[in-house]
Amino acid sequence: MYRIIIMGKEKEIKLTDLPGIGAATASKLEEAGYVDVMSIAVMNPAELSTIADITESAARKAIAAARKMLHLEFENAVEYLKRRQEVIKITTGSKNLDALLGGGIETRAITETYGAFGSGKSQLAHQLAVNAQLPLEKKGANGKVVWIDTESTFRPERIKQMCEALGLDFQKTLKNIFVARAFNSDHQILLVEKISELLKNGEPIKLIIVDSLTAHFRAEFTGRGQLAERQQRINRHLHSLMRLAETYNLAVYVTNQVMADPSMMFGDPTRAIGGHIVAHASTYRIYLRKGKKDARIARMIDSPNLPEAETIFFITEKGITDEEP
Ligand SMILES: Nc1ncnc2c1ncn2[C@@H]1O[C@H](COP(=O)(O)OP(=O)(O)OP(=O)(O)O)[C@@H](O)[C@H]1O
Ligand SMILES: [Mg+2]
Repeated sequence: MYRIIIMGKEKEIKLTDLPGIGAATASKLEEAGYVDVMSIAVMNPAELSTIADITESAARKAIAAARKMLHLEFENAVEYLKRRQEVIKITTGSKNLDALLGGGIETRAITETYGAFGSGKSQLAHQLAVNAQLPLEKKGANGKVVWIDTESTFRPERIKQMCEALGLDFQKTLKNIFVARAFNSDHQILLVEKISELLKNGEPIKLIIVDSLTAHFRAEFTGRGQLAERQQRINRHLHSLMRLAETYNLAVYVTNQVMADPSMMFGDPTRAIGGHIVAHASTYRIYLRKGKKDARIARMIDSPNLPEAETIFFITEKGITDEEP
């Protein structure tokens, strides 16, 4: 909850304190995951208008009021640049992969990997869960990690191997990873709210992992007629993750499976579950595939500022690396 001081008294500000937001609109917003004034302040008018079902001009007024209440006035380019400079890049452990990502996994962004079984999506998640805890000068984010596990693929033993390779205290590292098993897609969505509570309580979380982002949605929304519903839910889920990334300057890493696309005769006959909506919401998109032996090939697919390119890294007992075992 956000509080402001009025005439020497602290007052909690609620969504309904914003102009044009009544109780019904507020509950619509809350249902969609926008639970506090900060989450409104960082929205754009079109987005708010759609979700709250109000006119765009009403949305603009509500956002302006939210920003004013929180003292977030319109930022100029200098402030924007300063905010960009606050962005932290977490190393993957591989210089090649870091270079492909423009330095590492970024805060204030969602990075998605997609690829076939065994391509290294979960292995990278383990490495990031360790590396995010490193100090800034070692290309970490000096923070804690939340791991939403949908397929029980989190392995403490693997974290142990990676800690040993880096000379880190395993118990300490493990304690800084909050692992939550998501039993179904509703639960998965709910867990994001729990993360929001942890952050409000001051937990210095710098990385959220969702492995896998799409598995539950795929299993639950199977029919052709449910496709739109599925996409909408994934989209909303991603937006609430993005909101946390923006508000708390943290990184989000999600994994996505691929499915065979029989309509594609040439090239790679696979495409990501969730299709274009996931592609749209993720800031960085990496396609992973197996190379020879332990090699993995990563391809940058979608990025606002980086070229499409490919690189090679390895998965070894020590973790993600450039060194061929
Ligand atoms: N301790 C280890 N040492 C070396 N290589 C390992 C080790 N653990 C896992 N690997 C490699 O990582 C692969 C598994 O990768 P990972 O679990 O990341 O795949 P994934 O992309 O998440 O697949 P899925 O779609 O099934 O979740 C193994 O097949 C193996 O090649
Ligand atoms: Mg996996």
